[in-house]
Amino acid sequence: MKGSIFQALESLVLQHRDMGYWNALLVKNAPKGRCYVSVNDYPDAELNALVADICEELELEQAVVISLFGRHLFSHLMQHYQVVVSRYQHFEALILNIHNVIHKEVNKLHQGANLPTMRCMMIEPGYIEMHYSSPRKLCILAEGLIYGAAEHFNMQINIEHPQCQHRGDAECTLNIYYKRLKSHDRS
Ligand code: HEM
Repeated sequence: MKGSIFQALESLVLQHRDMGYWNALLVKNAPKGRCYVSVNDYPDAELNALVADICEELELEQAVVISLFGRHLFSHLMQHYQVVVSRYQHFEALILNIHNVIHKEVNKLHQGANLPTMRCMMIEPGYIEMHYSSPRKLCILAEGLIYGAAEHFNMQINIEHPQCQHRGDAECTLNIYYKRLKSHDRS
């Protein structure tokens, strides 16, 4: 996983705990002197170990923490990869272009990036079907990222997850239902 993903995890942790806690997490779960550089690659197992430790500390299920991380990661990616994403002004356009444009651009910037396979289809306005598969099985992170995108574009969404790699399916299906949030819905 790219260092930028670990940096996003660090910034999420620092919203809730201090630097001492983050450093203690690193001492337990990463090689000595670890300092994440955004463009460098680090083992997936290291990210999993950090997340597992955070779950233990907060007494939260892994899915809860990964989903929360996905929401946070979205805004981090939007800032970090502004050049790739600045042309997207709408939720729908961004979601439909993740695989064929956004992640392709990411792959050009970082050869060999660890990206999932995704297919997105607009079934009707307000309903996108996303198919996700990855050896990393990070579909809950994908859900969190989609919720993060909805927040960013002021959309109200609901995601169904009828097929899942974690339940033995070859790929996950995420049915995304979305509509624009009216300003008075937000309070
Ligand atoms: C809602 C929108 C998005 C979804 C659902 C999504 C999904 C994912 C998932 C699930 C992963 C983890 C890898 C895996 O599953 O195998 C990932 C990795 C990544 N995505 Fe996205 N993504 C989204 C938007 C973006 C955006 C806007 C950017 C920035 C341009 C981006 C850049 C990346 C990068 C840099 C990685 C890590 C690659 C690596 O570690 O080698 N994604 N994405």
